[in-house]
Amino acid sequence: MRTEIIHIKKLVNTRSENILLRGQALADLPCLDDAFLLIEDDRIVAYGKMEDLPDKRPKATNIVNAEGKFLLPAWCDSHTHIVFAKSREEEFVDKIKGKSYAEIAANGGGILNSANTLNATSEEELFDSAWERLDEISRLGTGAVEIKSGYGLTVEGELKMLRVIKKLKEKSKLSIKATFLGAHSYPLAFKDNHAGYINLIIEDMLPRIAEEKLADYIDVFCEEGFFSPEETKQVCEAGIQYGLRPKIHANQLHLSGGTEIGVQLGAISVDHLETMDEKAIRTLADSTTIGTLLPTAAFFLRMPLQPARQLIDAGCAITLASDYNPGSSPSGNMNFVNAISAIQMKMLPEEIINASTLQGAFAMGLENEVGSISVGKKANLILTKKIPSLAYMPYAFGSNLIDKVMIAGEWIS
Ligand code: NIG
Ligand code: FE
Repeated sequence: MRTEIIHIKKLVNTRSENILLRGQALADLPCLDDAFLLIEDDRIVAYGKMEDLPDKRPKATNIVNAEGKFLLPAWCDSHTHIVFAKSREEEFVDKIKGKSYAEIAANGGGILNSANTLNATSEEELFDSAWERLDEISRLGTGAVEIKSGYGLTVEGELKMLRVIKKLKEKSKLSIKATFLGAHSYPLAFKDNHAGYINLIIEDMLPRIAEEKLADYIDVFCEEGFFSPEETKQVCEAGIQYGLRPKIHANQLHLSGGTEIGVQLGAISVDHLETMDEKAIRTLADSTTIGTLLPTAAFFLRMPLQPARQLIDAGCAITLASDYNPGSSPSGNMNFVNAISAIQMKMLPEEIINASTLQGAFAMGLENEVGSISVGKKANLILTKKIPSLAYMPYAFGSNLIDKVMIAGEWIS
């Protein structure tokens, strides 16, 4: 199958090399005006200015005239929890009435509430609801996604979640990475026996996950009331033994030490970063670890947003992700993540597009596959409606500006 997209007003993020962008370089967004893009099967095979479109070329099966429209790489959402059994809007109402996220969690709600419902739900039902969420986010422009376990908190529950993710990988055309987050919370049975639960993770969960090849990364919720930096280190070091690189929840509610421990462990990314001080920012800037900002989680929990400008000014490499989950970010809409990043975190439109595409691909180890308009990469694309400029995307935050989405060479909407 051959698709030709022609007369594109602006072809966005065209690159022949994959470079992780840090600091001010995040604003460098290469684009081509009045451009074409050729796709064969699931891959990008050529692109350029309309004036350079070769006369002699194989006949296309599908030709799209993109006059007035922008064509971008599909979003790369490098942090989600989209396998879950039930939404948690009752807790949302409790928060409206004054309870905090930490209070709800301490009373057996939050992650433990999701773990109860997940353990009572079949693998098939979990697959079906996660499949619907994948379908939803792909129509919103996401073409690659990382999905975590962490609502099982039992050997069987964690394995069940990871098997669902494996099946999603097999059946979906999206690029998917799986992360083992057994250390998301201490289950009630291990409330006063942290060593026992960590032992369960290391001795029982990890060997089986490795045997069935169910995970690409290992995650820990490094946070006061959850896992300490020492416990995070212990779990991650065990994961590293099985080839799982850390990708951890750090500095969400408190200065947890998560950034420092993540960097020390060679994490691919440290995620959240609502609560950062100079030391944490400096540590991240001096490392090869990517900082993943999850602004909709901060927004939903009514917390100060991540210090994006300080992180960029310090020279950090950052990405943006949705954190789609039932407790702190019940939305996987990357267009809204982008809008809030511009409106509230003062990120430039160019910085946002890079952060939500190629940088996200790097944070999943998928930079050779997705994240930019490059020959040989998977044709995961967003075609906008007719819009005046790139800045219009985060500016018109409530409008659906997407005309069509292509995943692996096929228009899905
Ligand atoms: O990334 N903070 C830890 N984990 C999730 C929320 C999990 C939940 O509340 O269900 C997050 O925000
Ligand atoms: Fe998360």
